Amino acid sequence: MTEPSNWLVHDHRKYQAALEACEIAAGVREWKEATQRFNAFVDDLKLHMRMEDEVLYPFYKEQFGDADDEIGDLSYEHDKLIRLLRDLSIVIKHKDYDHFEECLKPLYQALMEHADHEEVVFSRVSGHELLTHRDEILRRLEAMQSGKKRRAWDF
Ligand SMILES: [Fe+2]
Ligand SMILES: [Fe+2]
Repeated sequence: MTEPSNWLVHDHRKYQAALEACEIAAGVREWKEATQRFNAFVDDLKLHMRMEDEVLYPFYKEQFGDADDEIGDLSYEHDKLIRLLRDLSIVIKHKDYDHFEECLKPLYQALMEHADHEEVVFSRVSGHELLTHRDEILRRLEAMQSGKKRRAWDF
């Protein structure tokens, strides 16, 4: 892994910890806390995914190509994560502990696999290549903040 030389810090560990904290809260039926933790996690992840979908992935494709469609695969994994997140959001909304673990496990697994996959793809191009284009990436990030979201989240 070339992180943290990659200027765009991938805070994947933070998401792992957030899901674990949500699981602990739900385990003792602290649904208010589980909901707050889940919502904060989702808000954060939405921005993270958006930066990837709208800036980092297109930038990667422009600069390095994507002969093996790895960026397409990563993008597909985002779609899958959103579906799994939606399932868990419903379970949390209904305080349905019987189905909580059933929904959490595949989400957790998919999130970890996606993080590993992404880190492998981006470590290959290394931080310094992204760093040389830092100003351009930052400009696009700023433009993205005020722009229209491409990916729809229906929860
Ligand atoms: Fe990521
Ligand atoms: Fe991602």
